[in-house]
Amino acid sequence: MRTTELAQGIHWVGAIDWDVRDFHGYSTNRGTTYNAFLVIDDKITLFDTVKRSHLDDLLNHVRAIIDPAKIDYLVVNHVEMDHSGALPQMMEIIKPEKLICSPAGHKAIVDHFHREDWPFEIVKTGDEISLGKRTIQFIETRMLHWPDSMFSYLKEDGILFSSDAFGEHYASSERFDDEAPLADVMNEAAKYYANILYLYSPLIRKLLKQVGEMNLDIRMIAPDHGVIWRSHIDTILKAYDRWSRNIADRKALVIYDTMWHSTEKMAKAVAEGLEEAGVHTSMINLKHHHRSDVMTQVLGARAIVLGSATLNNGILPRMAGFLSYMRGLKPSGKFCAAFGSFGWSGEAVNLLNTALHEMKLDVIEEGIRHKYVPAEAQLRECREMGKRIGLAVVNSNDGDGE
Ligand code: FEO
Repeated sequence: MRTTELAQGIHWVGAIDWDVRDFHGYSTNRGTTYNAFLVIDDKITLFDTVKRSHLDDLLNHVRAIIDPAKIDYLVVNHVEMDHSGALPQMMEIIKPEKLICSPAGHKAIVDHFHREDWPFEIVKTGDEISLGKRTIQFIETRMLHWPDSMFSYLKEDGILFSSDAFGEHYASSERFDDEAPLADVMNEAAKYYANILYLYSPLIRKLLKQVGEMNLDIRMIAPDHGVIWRSHIDTILKAYDRWSRNIADRKALVIYDTMWHSTEKMAKAVAEGLEEAGVHTSMINLKHHHRSDVMTQVLGARAIVLGSATLNNGILPRMAGFLSYMRGLKPSGKFCAAFGSFGWSGEAVNLLNTALHEMKLDVIEEGIRHKYVPAEAQLRECREMGKRIGLAVVNSNDGDGE
């Protein structure tokens, strides 16, 4: 089994999941990795485990380096099952001297595995544990993205084990950021942020500030998913700064669903108006795009215009599902408006507006609804609305443009 050495005595021993395509509703088209790291020192230490289904990969990788029973400390940076699923089996095999976790991690481990007898060592921000030649410093990162989440910083080597933060769902035979195509990795990092971390953006801003003030000499960031950052640390940190401050491109999305193509005609007219204003525009028919890919685009857009026909006095089900998903992820700082065709009752546009207001997004138009099939004059109204939204984007100070 192939392991990878990050630095002398520090090994990647995780697992590559080439097959996973759904991560609690997030489409993982490129699979993922469950990263775990083994440090050989006076106290041999394993950082995180893997999903239960990949226990054998973890064990084989560890065995290629050392007998797992020789591991002294097991650090749990995050209790979600993709990293702790194999914990009970590893605890039986290793029987470590210490199971190291945050205070919230202790509670979460007990609530998951019901083993209060494990040798917990509870650590808080600033606490340090010596491994012999090396020292681990701990940083609690509550709600990034679970209460238990924490970073472990290996001081002498400058390696930050960052749990889910800075990760991507990206299965690859390469382990480092300079070995894989950076554009692909960054696209997956944006998707990870948009679908897992977006709602915690205010906390991420605080964390980036806190870590900056700690003056850590970070030479590598080793997340629990995807590549290890060693050559493009600045790129991922700057991207997190930008995403967490809602800085978006001069770009608009027309996101819609349609019954008999009337709302689609309106969507095309809105998009034409946006383009006329000089705004890069993407049309997103929800029938053909997964909600998690749409959220990745929302992260980078400054305007979103939603369209739905009215069905049974409501909005179309795909749009309803997308709104429910987007609401939970709490995007902010977007110009918005709505449109849609209807037959006799026509509630969809009002319902879309209500949802956008509830999300505290900047609804800059009342929206447009047309009965049955829009005529040319009605499509002109849609183009004009698109153009007004586009001009708002062009003239806005939010974001740094493209
Ligand atoms: Fe990768 Fe929050 O688990």
